[in-house]
Amino acid sequence: MTVTNSIVVKPDRVKKLRNQYPWLFADEIQEVRGAPNAGDVVELQETRGEFIARAFFHPTSHIAARIVTYDATEKINRAFFEKRFERARARRAGAVVNTNALRLVHGEADRVPGLIVDRFAETLVVQFRNAGVETFRKEITQALKKIFAAQGAYERSDTQARVEEGLEERVGLLYGEVPSEIAIHEDDVTFLMNPQAGQKTGFYLDQRDNRRLLRSLVGRESRVLDVYSYTGGFSLHAAMAGAHALAVDKDRDALKQLEWNARKNNLSERVGARWGDAEKILEQLVREQRSFTHIVLDPPTLAKHKNDVPFAKQLFTRLATNALRLLEPNGMLFLSTCAYHISVSDLIEAARIAASDVSRRVSVLTVTYQPADHPWILQIPETLYLKTLVLRAELRD
Ligand SMILES: C[S@@+](CC[C@H](N)C(=O)[O-])C[C@H]1O[C@@H](n2cnc3c(N)ncnc32)[C@H](O)[C@@H]1O
Repeated sequence: MTVTNSIVVKPDRVKKLRNQYPWLFADEIQEVRGAPNAGDVVELQETRGEFIARAFFHPTSHIAARIVTYDATEKINRAFFEKRFERARARRAGAVVNTNALRLVHGEADRVPGLIVDRFAETLVVQFRNAGVETFRKEITQALKKIFAAQGAYERSDTQARVEEGLEERVGLLYGEVPSEIAIHEDDVTFLMNPQAGQKTGFYLDQRDNRRLLRSLVGRESRVLDVYSYTGGFSLHAAMAGAHALAVDKDRDALKQLEWNARKNNLSERVGARWGDAEKILEQLVREQRSFTHIVLDPPTLAKHKNDVPFAKQLFTRLATNALRLLEPNGMLFLSTCAYHISVSDLIEAARIAASDVSRRVSVLTVTYQPADHPWILQIPETLYLKTLVLRAELRD
């Protein structure tokens, strides 16, 4: 594709782009030259015409341009995507072990804005999240086929991000053969997942390290409460270490899948499930005077926008308050957020208010972040989204 359109960037916004920040916001444009359409490649320039980068353009999105390359000679074609995918593969070599499920391409962090690719055994699940990658879907699909050998790929472009770009949702076979049930493993735990029907791309790969951390902390005497469990990631790992786990989720299909997963791993006797709203079930458990040694709170993205943060913090506080009521002395609480807008400080503040509400002294054991296959790029704050506070409710005096 030839680049005929360019965007002149406001002078005080040039530095951030040159310093690897990939987004130009609509109000940072000085001038649009030519008539670029959504998804076209445009050249970003300084006022005097110096080249900055090439980017995917969108005329109405608040992110007007997403940088794809800083190389003025680089063409955006199949070979370009092959090179990007090679790099993504090299970055992950040896970084994710003992599993056949990982994120292969993580959008901006792998320098392909808006493209998500997960591998589940022999199947790829792909999301084209913006108009730019949509324009190049053919080249991208060909490059995926070549670099990440797989039996088939399934598209799950049913994301809000796409709707915000004015694109229709797209779900269906991209190429090859895709089974409706795939067995993946994390260490010795097997999960059955369905890329065609599960949430997002079918499985929450980003909690892998935290699931392993929980497993390392529990034993036969442990009683784990896995709130927002989805198909039982935390519960099954804990049960494999001998613990009993109670999973809570409002997605009936996910809980059905959890039961299958428990059976498949011979863990049915140690894993139970309750369907319903997490907050209500926590309240019920408090009324029932239940107690747990470990509690995981892993809600969905509670703050999609900055304005949602106060509401999300209040919910975290209520959840953590009841979790602390349910925790045994010395019990541990995993408090996770997958929202970019919710910071570690927000989690800490919510936990501190919760601890004072129930008069418990709480120590912070560690803070964890997303695993290596979901890279966090220093210059792109938005690439850090998963943060987890691991707390211990201390012994009472
Ligand atoms: C981030 S995912 C959890 C991933 C899971 N911990 C894992 O390791 O696979 C969030 C989950 O919260 C569930 N959920 C969303 N709102 C809920 C609510 N109000 N009550 C209970 N579950 C809810 C979703 O169905 C989804 O399974």
